[in-house]
Amino acid sequence: MTKEHFFDLAQLAYTEILTPTLEESLHFFTEYLGMFIVDRTEKSIYLKAYEETYHHSLKLTESTEPGVGAIGWRAVSPQGLQRRVKIIEEAGYGIGWTTGDQGYGETYQFKTPSGHVMELFWDVEYYKPLETEKTSLLNRAQKRPNRGVPVRRLDHINLMVNDVDKMSQFLTDVLGFKMREYVRFENGKMASSWLSVSNLVHEIALTLDPTAETGRLHHVAYWYGYPQNLYDVADLLKENGIFMEGGPGKHGISQAFCLYVYEPGGNRIEFFGDTGYLIFDPSFEPVVWDLKDIPGKGDIWIGAPLPPTFITYGTPIREVKQPPVPAPIMQS
Ligand SMILES: [Fe+2]
Repeated sequence: MTKEHFFDLAQLAYTEILTPTLEESLHFFTEYLGMFIVDRTEKSIYLKAYEETYHHSLKLTESTEPGVGAIGWRAVSPQGLQRRVKIIEEAGYGIGWTTGDQGYGETYQFKTPSGHVMELFWDVEYYKPLETEKTSLLNRAQKRPNRGVPVRRLDHINLMVNDVDKMSQFLTDVLGFKMREYVRFENGKMASSWLSVSNLVHEIALTLDPTAETGRLHHVAYWYGYPQNLYDVADLLKENGIFMEGGPGKHGISQAFCLYVYEPGGNRIEFFGDTGYLIFDPSFEPVVWDLKDIPGKGDIWIGAPLPPTFITYGTPIREVKQPPVPAPIMQS
């Protein structure tokens, strides 16, 4: 009999991005991407996009180096939260309960085998727009801002990991993700993978880290939903000295329209111009790409190939002597 699958995680709710240039990073997210400041503490600033309903989706924290802090997932229900915490604890990855951060309630923290800190919770505080931010569109959290080219919501995170197989297994067996696509070397080991807890192809992706460092960030992605917005924001960012690494272009894996830039703190940020394809089939089987077959099949087919930095650069920044795979291979 087919084993019944339960998703206990509902969505990626927030990420914490570490930056050595807090005010410059803030300027990038508010003035070019139209995000709103919701709250601040001594070292952190909390931001949201205009279609997001929760308190924040981005916590910018001042740090000596760029990188990623806590990654927050909302559970599908209080029962789902308890169920999943038990599984995490039994697997030996738990850190423990906290009273939660600004805008989020009691939270269970754990550390993944890749060295990333994640948080799981149910209680959320919904954002209450100011009078000037209220919109006549009852299904939108607040007015579309007239700053920059405003992003609409957080889409996914891509982490650099030393062992893609091991981390993928943690995501499927311990957190309940479904594997959607992966790339494998000739020896069968995974080079990268894409997993989700919804109809999206991924809320999380993994990229093989060519360094021995743990816990690095490849990128955080925000969603536009309109391919034209990528050209609009690229035009704006170019004139304001923001480094664009690749795109706009269309991925083979995930089939999404993408653009990659480095925010002023050094972290790679991606923009999604559409959604790629959606998965409704409950018995969907993972799409497996052999590394040797990707050029001409799974690589970008609109726009230029991605540069070598795409597989070597992550944050915190570390020197890479030997890239693990040919340059334009790893995507999304
Ligand atoms: Fe991505």
